[in-house]
Order: sequence, then structure tokens, then C-alpha cells
Amino acid sequence: MRMRRNPLAEQNLEQMPGVLPGSPDKLYGHWDEIFQRKAPLHIELGMGKGDFIIGMARMHPDINFIGVERVASVQVIAAQKNQTDPLPNLRFLSLDAAQLELFFRPGEVERIYLNFSDPWPKKRHAKRRLTYVEMLEVYKKILKPGGQIHFKTDGEAFFEFSLTQFREAGMSFGKISRDLHHSGFEGNVMTEYEKRFSEMGLPIFRCEVWNG
Ligand SMILES: C[S@@+](CC[C@H](N)C(=O)[O-])C[C@H]1O[C@@H](n2cnc3c(N)ncnc32)[C@H](O)[C@@H]1O
Repeated sequence: MRMRRNPLAEQNLEQMPGVLPGSPDKLYGHWDEIFQRKAPLHIELGMGKGDFIIGMARMHPDINFIGVERVASVQVIAAQKNQTDPLPNLRFLSLDAAQLELFFRPGEVERIYLNFSDPWPKKRHAKRRLTYVEMLEVYKKILKPGGQIHFKTDGEAFFEFSLTQFREAGMSFGKISRDLHHSGFEGNVMTEYEKRFSEMGLPIFRCEVWNG
């Protein structure tokens, strides 16, 4: 996602409601204190402009949500949407997904959402995909046993590649849909990319993956 930088907004990012500092020592092992309650932890990796995680946090007040995004100028846009009436069960974290283990204890996360992750279509860039087996090994460590990954994409080749990676990581998967919006699935919250692609008439691919 190519974005025009907004240095002023980025400077103020950590003053915005729900935005966390990027330092692991203040966060690792402190999630119950940060949310001021014990509740299942769900994180979205590469949240973009935040529509999905904000919609989910509104719909599920009993879950603690964290939106992870590595590009600060994109994260600002998500945080701005949560300024007027900040949701108590939502936080934003500026972080590269490869560093998750610095922020979450083993088995601490109940669910990871991967929505329209960059497909990195060139074969030589496959390792950068958020569903590459090495990334899945990271997710497996922070996910609790039986924890899940919920994955959506518009890219058929990326979807099929990801299924091979889930298998290679020894993860079970199911609830596969190759046309989510015509599948009768209930409770779907759309992302910005999902709105754009479905308006173009493209099918959305989705599956659920289990840890262990
Ligand atoms: C194609 S956009 C999709 C945004 C949003 N999920 C949606 O569906 O509208 C992918 C997003 O993932 C972010 N991203 C890519 N790799 C990442 C990584 N390793 N860690 C955190 N965020 C990442 C990008 O900066 C970008 O905002």
C-alpha cells in the first residue's frame, strides 16, 4: 500500500487514544494491565486503515483486539478513526509481524487475522508473504493450543500457496470459501481492500486455520 507520508500525524501517533508505544518491555506480559481486564486476545497483522479491527472491536466487546501495522502513516489513519469515541477493547501497535515474539508470550494469543496481506507475487519474494511457513512458525508460538488464524484474500494463487504453507507447518485448516460473499457466511466485517475488490466483482477467498 503506497501512502503519502504525513510526518506531523506520525509524530503525534503515540498521543492518540489506543496507540501503544513500540517498546516490547512496556508490553510483553502486560496485556491484562493494558486492557485493564482479562479477555481473549485477537490480533490483526497488517490492519491497513483499520476498518476491520474497529468493526470487530465494536461487534465483540468481550474480546481484546490489537491492530498491528508496520507503516506508521497507515496506522495514523486507523487511529484517527478511533479518536472521537475510543473503544476500550482496541489498541494499535506499530510493528513488523516478524517481531511478534518480542511482544507476546508463548500461547498468549487466541486468534490472528490476516486480511488481504501483500501477496508478493514474485517467487523470489515468497519469504516476505505473511503466510510463508517461517512466519507460521512464529504464529504457532504465540497462539494458544487450538488458537486460530482467519485468513482472507482476493488472490487465488496466494490463497492456494497459503494452504500449502499451512499444511507444511502442520496446521489443520477448514471452513474454506472461494467466494465468501456468496457463501452465506455471517458476521463478516469488510476491510478496505475487501470493499474495493468486491465492488469490482472479484471473489473473496477465506479459510480458518488451527494451531495444533
Ligand atoms: C494490502 S494491505 C491490506 C490492508 C488491510 N488488511 C485491508 O484488507 O484493507 C497490507 C497491509 O499490511 C501491512 N504489512 C505488510 N507486511 C507487514 C508486516 N510484516 N508486518 C506488519 N504489517 C505489514 C502493509 O503495510 C499494509 O498496510
